Amino acid sequence: MSDNTAATTYGSYLKIDELLSLQQPRSAGPEHDEMLFIIIHQVYELWFKELLHEFDHVMRLLEGDESHRSQHTLKRILTILKVMVAQLDILETMTPLEFLSFRERLDAASGFQSDQFRQIEFLLGVKSEQAIRRFPDGSRPRAALERRYRELTLWDAFLRYLARERYAVPAADLARDVIAPPAPSPEIQQILIDLYRRDSKNAELCERLVDLDEGVQEWRYRHVKMVERTIGSRQGTGGSAGAEYLRETIGRPIFPDLWAIRSQL
Ligand code: HEM
Repeated sequence: MSDNTAATTYGSYLKIDELLSLQQPRSAGPEHDEMLFIIIHQVYELWFKELLHEFDHVMRLLEGDESHRSQHTLKRILTILKVMVAQLDILETMTPLEFLSFRERLDAASGFQSDQFRQIEFLLGVKSEQAIRRFPDGSRPRAALERRYRELTLWDAFLRYLARERYAVPAADLARDVIAPPAPSPEIQQILIDLYRRDSKNAELCERLVDLDEGVQEWRYRHVKMVERTIGSRQGTGGSAGAEYLRETIGRPIFPDLWAIRSQL
């Protein structure tokens, strides 16, 4: 190694100095619990980044008909989701009064404005123009959301994969408007019932998608409960009705057909 090239170290590779300079509490003091609040949100944003990285990989694997590797990657996504749900326990050690001690310093800041969370929703089929318009023209979040708005959802990639596996997926489903949420389809449900009965490889893949759906619903449920116990029925800092708004987002399946067939299997 030449003299003027510094050896790579743990600190230089992971940019630890930069990372540790990014937690900047805004409350006077600062209030003790604000550090936890900042760190946990930053950790979530890193997990969101990793999830998007893995979801993009799953899409490419499905496009390449690599069922086994798609399942493997979905398994990793699910494992991360479980960790994300479990991390809410840490934030629940913060009492309502501890949160109120710095809440007003958040102004309008809220997870509501997380573009990476919206990108994940878009990829799963929950797309909204309103979510895009929240970000200024030309900004990174806006460009990322505009791109994902037009792209196939995970369900579309899965249906195309099934068609290549010689399932008779109706042409209308393959050509559906990718902006609309995946709607229940009796034809697809019949295909899935047959698939579950005679195609264990693809039935496993379907089960991983159900796991994913359940995992996202679990996160939503736990987040609402945390919100209820921390701020009750107060409005959110992002301007919504708070827990009341969040409760409306629970229990909506991402892949309705995979749930609809359960009673017929
Ligand atoms: C004390 C802790 C927390 C409270 C009181 C809280 C409160 C809220 C509220 C009230 C909303 C509704 C939108 C609004 O602000 O009006 C919301 C949305 C959201 N929060 Fe939290 N939150 C907390 C922690 C977290 C954490 C740690 C994350 C992780 C990133 C997070 C992510 C989100 C996301 C992604 C949304 C949008 C959900 C949707 O639109 O479906 N929140 N939060």
